[in-house]
Amino acid sequence: MRFVTIAAACACVSLAACGGWKSGQANSAQGNISKDNRPPATAKASAVTNAPVTNEMVMLAAPLSKGRALQVMKARHDGMEAMGDATKAIHRGLVGSDLATVRSNAAKVVQLSQQASAWFPAGTGPDVGKTRAKPDIWQNSEDFASKLRNFQAAAHAFDAAARGNDVAAMNARFADLGGTCKACHDKYRAEEKH
Ligand code: HEC
Repeated sequence: MRFVTIAAACACVSLAACGGWKSGQANSAQGNISKDNRPPATAKASAVTNAPVTNEMVMLAAPLSKGRALQVMKARHDGMEAMGDATKAIHRGLVGSDLATVRSNAAKVVQLSQQASAWFPAGTGPDVGKTRAKPDIWQNSEDFASKLRNFQAAAHAFDAAARGNDVAAMNARFADLGGTCKACHDKYRAEEKH
């Protein structure tokens, strides 16, 4: 089983001609979250094939080195902080009718939401380094992946609204987006330690 998984993962990587999480272009949330060594299901394989790039998550069969795990955790932390900054900017833009700011940050959130697919490989939990990511992420990986997908969909929906001129729709989609951040944080992000 393990051999099959590795072989399948390697096939995916060579198909996509890239295996680095740093590419930041991971498209498949499913590909990222796996608590066991199952080979990718057909749907996952085709999602990977359609994606321009795959990512390290596909290589879960091989445990992350500590150094790499810490790199991923740093990218995750920085990415989440950037998402916080972008959503604050959007809020200010909506309040102050600055649609240029709303639009540029909507695009940023979409980009970060895609990158987030690569932020939670197994082996990047609190047993490895300082993080607020709860171990439940890897125990409930399917639920976590669905929360990530909901968030990615909400980011797209908000971006679509932001490209238009209907400010009420922007506000509504922004509220939806915030709900998907919260849904994940409430369950999978630990309190900040002081
Ligand atoms: C699918 C789950 C998930 C979604 C969706 C999500 N986050 Fe997070 N977020 C986390 C987790 C887990 C952490 C803790 C990461 C860590 O400490 O390694 C976190 C941390 C953060 C942090 C603190 C920085 C840190 O690393 O502790 C901020 C700010 C943040 N998120 C903002 C957002 C915003 C804004 C959104 C939505 C636009 C969002 N997040 C969506 C899971 C999520």
